[in-house]
Amino acid sequence: MKQADIGLIGLAVMGENLAMNMESRGFTVAVYNRTAEKVTRFVEGRAAGKHIVGTYSLQELADKLARPRRIMLMVRAGDAVDQLIDALLPLLDDGDVIIDGGNSHFPDTIRRTAYVEQHGKLYIGVGVSGGEEGALHGPSLMPGGSPAAWPLVQPIFQAICARSDGEPCCDWVGENGAGHFVKMVHNGIEYGDMQLICEAYQLMRDGLGLTADELHGVFAAWNKTELDSYLIEITRDILARRDEAGAPVLDCILDTAGQKGTGKWTAISALDEGVPLTLIGEAVFARCLSARKEERVEAAKRFPKRIPPFTGDRTAFIECIRQALYASKIVSYAQGYALMRNAARTYGWNLNYGGIALMWRGGCIIRSAFLGKIKQAYEADPALENLLLDGYFSGTIEKLLPAWRETVAWAVKAGIPTPALSSALNYFDGYTTERLPANLLQAQRDYFGAHTYERVDRPRGTFFHTDWTGHGGHTTANPYTA
Ligand code: 6PG
Repeated sequence: MKQADIGLIGLAVMGENLAMNMESRGFTVAVYNRTAEKVTRFVEGRAAGKHIVGTYSLQELADKLARPRRIMLMVRAGDAVDQLIDALLPLLDDGDVIIDGGNSHFPDTIRRTAYVEQHGKLYIGVGVSGGEEGALHGPSLMPGGSPAAWPLVQPIFQAICARSDGEPCCDWVGENGAGHFVKMVHNGIEYGDMQLICEAYQLMRDGLGLTADELHGVFAAWNKTELDSYLIEITRDILARRDEAGAPVLDCILDTAGQKGTGKWTAISALDEGVPLTLIGEAVFARCLSARKEERVEAAKRFPKRIPPFTGDRTAFIECIRQALYASKIVSYAQGYALMRNAARTYGWNLNYGGIALMWRGGCIIRSAFLGKIKQAYEADPALENLLLDGYFSGTIEKLLPAWRETVAWAVKAGIPTPALSSALNYFDGYTTERLPANLLQAQRDYFGAHTYERVDRPRGTFFHTDWTGHGGHTTANPYTA
C-alpha cells in the first residue's frame, strides 16, 4: 500500500471524524491511538475498506508516512501534547511536521513551536472548530506555527475544511501561537454568543411567559434575520425537542454550565492585554454563577423574585430583544477583534482580520451571515481600530440603540439577569463617552498613593501631583500602568 499522506494520533470523536474526512477527500491516513483496541475497532469498523491504515506504535506510524511526514495530534490539551512531541521527535527527519489540532493554550503553542524548530522539525498549532459534525464534513481550520510548514499541509487542510462562497474556511493565520490564539478568541466569542442567546431566552421565558413552542417559533423567525447563524439554528431545534412524555427536553436540563477553559483564557488574555472584553468576561462569569446552583437556590428563597407581569405589546418587545441581541453581538465581535489587534502587536503577528472572518464564516460554531459583514468591514479598512467605527456597523447600532436600551432597562426593573446584554450596552456607552469620570479616580489615586495624574491643559505623558492634605510629602510614585 502507498505511504500514507498524513498521520493522525488520537481516535476520540474529533480524531476519528477528521481521519474519515481526510480519507473522503482522497488522502491516505495512518492512525494511531495509545489504546490499541481503539485503532482496531476503528479500522475494522467505520474505516473498513477505506484508505485508512491502523498502526500500533509511533515507530510504525512514522514508518508508514510519506516524506516529509505530517502527523496531526488530536489529544487533550496539556501534558499529553508535550509527551507526544518528545516521543515523536527522535522518530522524525528534519522538515517533518507535527500538528497540534487540540484546543491548546496559545502560550504553550508558542513554546512548542520554538522547541520543535530547535530540533529541526516544523510545528503547527491549528484551531479546529465545528465539533464532531464539522470534523467529519468540514471544520473551520485556523493554522499557525512554522511558516515553512504551511505549504506542506495546505492541500490537505484546504481540502477538508468548510467552504464559504467557494472559498476555504482555512488559511494561514500567523507564526507560532497565532492560530491557537485566534481559535481561543473564537471560543470566547462563542461563549458570548451563547450567553446572549440564553439571556434572550430567559427574558422571553420568564419575562413574557413564552412556551417552548412559542420560543421555537421566535428563534426560527430570528434565524431568517441578521441573526442567521448556527447557534440560533440549534437553539431553534433544541426548543422543538420533546422527550417520550412529550415534554420539552430543555426543561429537564439542569441550569449549571460547564466550561473547558477556552473562554476563561480569552478573558485572562484580555486582562493581560488591557482590552475591555466585557461581554465575554461576563459570559464566563455567568457560567461560574450558574454552577453555584445550591447557593442560588438558597439565595432565591431569601430574595424571592417578583417579576412584574408584562403589560406591553409582546410582539414588539420580542423584536426589541432581537435588536438588543444583535447590537450586543456586534459589540462582542468588536471586543474580540480589538483583543486580536492588541495581541498581534504584543506577539508580532500580522493577522488578516478579513481572512479570520472568512475562516469563521463556515464550519465553526460561531458561523453566521453576520461574519460576511465583518469580512467586508476589514477588507474596506484593514486598519480599522474598532468594528463599531465601520460605516455599516455604526449605522446599524444607531438604529438598534433604542430597543437595546428598552430591553436592558426592562430586564433591570424585572430582576432578570442580563450580564451580556447590559455589559455590552455599558461598553458602548463608555466607548462613546468623551469625558469619563476617571479624572476623579486619578485624583483619588494621587490623594492616597501619590500616583500622579496628567492634565487636560498639558501634553500627554507629563505627570503632576497635588499635596491634597497640606502635609503630604513631594515624593511621588512611578506612574506606570501594568
Ligand atoms: C468548537 C468548540 C469546541 C469547544 C466546545 C466545548 O469550536 O468546535 O468551541 O472547540 O471545545 O465548544 O467548549 P466549552 O466546554 O469551553 O464550552
